[in-house]
Parts: sequence; C-alpha cells; structure tokens
Amino acid sequence: MDKAVKDQVLIFDTTLRDGEQSPGATMSLSEKIEIAALLDEMGVDIIEAGFPIASEGDFEAVSEISKIIEIASVCGLARANKVDIERCWRAVEKSNKPRIHTFIGTSPLHREFQVRLTKEQVLDKVFETVKFAKTFCEDVQWSPMDATRTERDFLIKVVRVAIEAGASTINIPDTVGYTAPKESAEIIKNLFATIPEMKDIIVSTHCHNDLGMATANSLAAVEAGARQVECTINGLGERAGNTALEEIAMALRVRRDILPFKTRLDTKKLIQASRLVSTVSGFPVQFNKAIVGKNAFAHESGIHQDGMLKHAGTFEIMKPEDIGLTETNLVMGKHSGRAALRKKISDLGFNLGDNQLQDLFIRFKALADRKKEVYDEDLLALLADNSMARNDEFLQLVDLEVKCGTSSPQTAKAVIVMQGKNYTVDSTGDGPVDAVFNAIKKVFPHSAHLQHFQIHAVTEGTDAQATVSVRLEEAGKMVTGQSSDTDTVVASAKAYINSLNKLVLRRRKKAPDFVAN
Ligand code: KIV
Ligand code: ZN
Repeated sequence: MDKAVKDQVLIFDTTLRDGEQSPGATMSLSEKIEIAALLDEMGVDIIEAGFPIASEGDFEAVSEISKIIEIASVCGLARANKVDIERCWRAVEKSNKPRIHTFIGTSPLHREFQVRLTKEQVLDKVFETVKFAKTFCEDVQWSPMDATRTERDFLIKVVRVAIEAGASTINIPDTVGYTAPKESAEIIKNLFATIPEMKDIIVSTHCHNDLGMATANSLAAVEAGARQVECTINGLGERAGNTALEEIAMALRVRRDILPFKTRLDTKKLIQASRLVSTVSGFPVQFNKAIVGKNAFAHESGIHQDGMLKHAGTFEIMKPEDIGLTETNLVMGKHSGRAALRKKISDLGFNLGDNQLQDLFIRFKALADRKKEVYDEDLLALLADNSMARNDEFLQLVDLEVKCGTSSPQTAKAVIVMQGKNYTVDSTGDGPVDAVFNAIKKVFPHSAHLQHFQIHAVTEGTDAQATVSVRLEEAGKMVTGQSSDTDTVVASAKAYINSLNKLVLRRRKKAPDFVAN
C-alpha cells in the first residue's frame, strides 16, 4: 500500500441509517436527499443511506440517493439473509459506487438471544451471506455486531471467514458503546496481528457514545490501523448516539502533528451540515457540543475575552471559519432586500434555489414587519420551518384564531388542510395550546401520546420568535416536530402538525430489528 493510501481515513457517514434510527429522528425522502447531497459535496467517502428492507420509504430513499450521488459510494444495510441482501442490492444498484453492508450479532448475548445460533452456525451464515452479497456487488462490507463484547478468538475466526467469502471492508462495531480507547486499539491490532489477509482490506470502526468515548475510541482504532471511521453529523444515533463526524474531522485537522491522517472532508461545510441535520431531525444541538455547539467558539469569561483580544490563539485551537462559521454583524430588518438576504443566508452556510429564496423572502418580510431586528437565529428558525413546509403535505395549518385570557374555557378555531381537503374546526381546552391541539385532533384523530412539549425563545426581547418542539409516541415509536413563530400558540400548532406529519411517515416504516433471519 503506498503512503498516500495508508494515511487516508475514509469517512463513512451513517446519519441517514444509524442516525435516523434514533427515536423521533424520522426524516422524509426529500430531507434525506438534501442531506446526502450535502455529505457528497462535503467529501464524505461512503454514505450509508438506509436499511432498504425496513420499509418502502427506506428502499425508496436509498435508491433515489443512489441515483443522484456523484462521487461518494452509496451503501445500504442488510441483515444476514438473502431477502435483505437482494433488497439492499436493488436499492443501491443504480449508484456509481454501490456497497452492500451486511452484519450479524457475534457476541455471546447476541448469539444466544438475538440470532439464536451456535458459533458454528454463525460462521456458516457469515460465509454464505457474504458470498451471496458478492454475487451482486464487488464492494461488500461486513460487520460483527457487538464485536467489542465478542470473545477475541471467535472474533478472529468470524472475521477470517468474512474475508474468505469476499468482504472488502471489515467493520468493528462497538454497538453498545462499551469499549475504551486502549481496548478499541487492541482489538484492531490483534486482528492485524493474527489475520495476514487483513492487510489487503479496509478495517473500519463504528462506535456508539454510551460512555462518552465514541470519538476517542474511533481515533484509537485509527491509530491501530483502521482506515474507515463510521460516524454521524452531530453524533445523531440511537441512545447516546454515534461518533460525531465533526469531531473526527476537526481532531484530524487540528492534531495532524500526532494524528497524521488525511480525509477528503471540506470542514468548512460542517456547520451547515450540523444545522441541516438538527433542523430535519428535530434534535437541537447541545449548546456546549464540541465543534458545532452554539457556545463552541464563545468566550464569556473576562480572562478569556482579554486573551482573545490580545491574540486569538491564546484560547482558540481552531478558527470559527474552519467549520464554516462567518462572523457577520449585519442585522436584517424590514428594509433589507433580496440580495442582502441571499448574502446572509449564504454566510450562514445555506445555498437556496431561487424558489426557496423567494419563499424565505416572503416569510422574512412578514417576520420583519412584526419584529424590528431580524437576527441570524431568527433566519435559522425560518429556514428550519422552510425545510419542514416542503414536506408538510399530509396536514397543513391554513388559519388559526384563539381566544385566551382569564376566563375559561379557552377556545380555538382552525382551518386545516388534510390531504388536499379543507376542514374548519373549533374546540375548547385547558389553555390556548390545549384548545388548538384538540381542534387539530378533530381533523386527524390519533392515539399518539404527547411525551414532550418545549418552548424556547430564539432571541431576546418580548417580540422574539418562539421555537416549539413536540414529541409524540405511538406504539413505542417516537417522532419530533418543531416550528417557530413570533406567536407562541401558532408555533405550537405548527410544531404539533409537523410531528403528526412525521407520525404518518413513521407508520409506513417497519422497525428494523437486528435478528438475522
Ligand atoms: O451499532 C452497530 O452494531 C450497527 C451495525 C448494524 C453496524 O449499527
Ligand atoms: Zn450502530
């Protein structure tokens, strides 16, 4: 292997598969396509676009993404059986660089309780299914699920079998976020030391963040020889999430001195990707999140501010521009025109088409009429709503009137479009939000349980927009909706409708269970 290849770390993004598996993070087809296009533009090497057998929606998303992505490989996930694998192939076959990723649980717990197979049966299944995947696709990735809790000798055996059957990438998942950096490195080193054929394949690392060590574990694996890191934007993923792509990207960039590895990533797109994924998934980014959190570059304390004024390097190890953050003091208002809005939106990291910009401009003007100064946060909230509006086809709010105050009951009258048909409904409730939700429920009755309702002010001031998040649960599955408006009750209504639209999408999606057969 020449040095350039040896030092190259491939970035495998699984935001659309493992990330989307996080409860409540369901994304629509157009949202997935938008994210995939940005990942490709950013230089991600492999995009895991979904789990084609899980639902018609997943299949469609993987196959549409396969058709449009130009540079990155597009990968689909498949359990260790022929039906999954063939379905996966049908979804990725149109890609310029298709990949099938198949897996089976290999740890004692997974063998006994999930796949219910003996060690010998697992070995046979791995051989048979990887061979089967190879009949369709040259590029086959294989994963022993729960690898870090698999007996080391069995892990060696099963990896050897997968390589013999033709796997070109072996991924080592820390499925439950259990390992620690030293062990993560030892597992990879041990595989290289005992399986000579490993030198001809790519070894990958896939870490979950249950103990907060996903990034450290992934980097330790890279130092031990792994040349593919599986990660998600904002660390989105089941439970505590997956390794965060932006953390890997910036650690490799900032600490090249001790981590001499290259990626193809354009780190200037990180903030844009973070905002897009947060908007689409409805998962806010924690303020102090490394790299992309709102406070990641904010210096509050006197000592830090003083140092920063004298020399930015005193307290800053990377520049905000490195991740695409530009500092603009341009506050927008009702006299700002289309050109200023376009410039501002591009500074915030978004490239809108003419129609999208026109739609945003109309809503920006409406907001500027109600609010003297429109800040970056306000525009980001409008953009978030814009991205939702495109997909809110099942239910849409057309008009809302609410009566609230000290005398009860509070009442709401709403005009709602459901599947193209107009409904005018009224209802009462214990407070204006309750009245509005009751009215919406009359149009679209459902038994989903409201798990979480949260309001936060986007900026300061009594004229600030409110962003409302609504999380619903139905039969153990969660969806999250979000919306913003200067009227808190309108924002609540739109967020509730957004979550119901996601619920409709979610109902069409079968839960992927991780059993082999
Ligand atoms: O965490 C895990 O084990 C996975 C596999 C399907 C690779 O996501
Ligand atoms: Zn995973």
